[in-house]
Amino acid sequence: MEKYGQTLFTLDSAEEARLALLAEVFDPLCRETLRDLVIAPDARCLEVGAGSGSVASWLCEEAREGEVVATDIDPALLDRIEHPRLRALRHDVTTDPFPEDSFDLVHARLVLSHLPQRDDVMRRIHGWLRPGGFVLIESFCWFPIDSSPHPLYRKVMGAWSDLICGTLGTDSWWSRSQPASFAGYGYRDVGARTHTQNVRGGTPLADFWRLTVHMSHRRLVDGGHATEDELQDFYALLADPDFWDLTPALIQSWGRK
Ligand SMILES: C[S@@+](CC[C@H](N)C(=O)[O-])C[C@H]1O[C@@H](n2cnc3c(N)ncnc32)[C@H](O)[C@@H]1O
Repeated sequence: MEKYGQTLFTLDSAEEARLALLAEVFDPLCRETLRDLVIAPDARCLEVGAGSGSVASWLCEEAREGEVVATDIDPALLDRIEHPRLRALRHDVTTDPFPEDSFDLVHARLVLSHLPQRDDVMRRIHGWLRPGGFVLIESFCWFPIDSSPHPLYRKVMGAWSDLICGTLGTDSWWSRSQPASFAGYGYRDVGARTHTQNVRGGTPLADFWRLTVHMSHRRLVDGGHATEDELQDFYALLADPDFWDLTPALIQSWGRK
């Protein structure tokens, strides 16, 4: 298996644009759920695999007397954020430590599903939380794609999922059983929400998925997952305002230590 960022999703200008679209489309859903969980003003928060840092920056405003630790294996975008209570760290969630019982909130969006060590990471996160602290994990689940009425969309999205599952060890369905597993990690007050989104061609959500697939264009063609023509038609479909479908669902699961 390759590590995330080794050859797929390397932090370059395309990945930066993709992370900006991700924040634009998915931050409102994340904020809504984090508000419901209630973040104390002095909470110490950990944002795992923080990417562009959009959620970490927002947490700095919510926990206005607390500290926000934002980690990533490549913290280049986090290092650009200037906030007195934000600490950006190069930190690999699969291997690097934090002291036990040191955070009131741990949040990770679209990180754990990509890591083959996700179960071990869930146990590590549990150790880092203080008693009473919350974890919120967000991951995509692929089920809306299998029933798509657009054969090309179904094929290319499926091919892309096969590529990242085979290359990184991503699990595009793990999130579905996430809430049930929380009790086993030691959490109570477990909750979950699934957001299934309608997508129209040419919108930021469509652009996010178009760019996501485009970043793996060469690998998809060279690996025989999709042809050049199929990919070009897929990009045109996602730019077409007459195209409507569903994107992979976002499943949010949370629990209290
Ligand atoms: C799909 S991006 C999501 C970024 C951010 N969480 C968001 O939703 O906007 C996945 C992020 O996880 C980071 N990442 C991948 N493996 C990691 C690891 N082992 N430890 C920490 N971060 C990791 C990547 O560098 C990348 O920034």
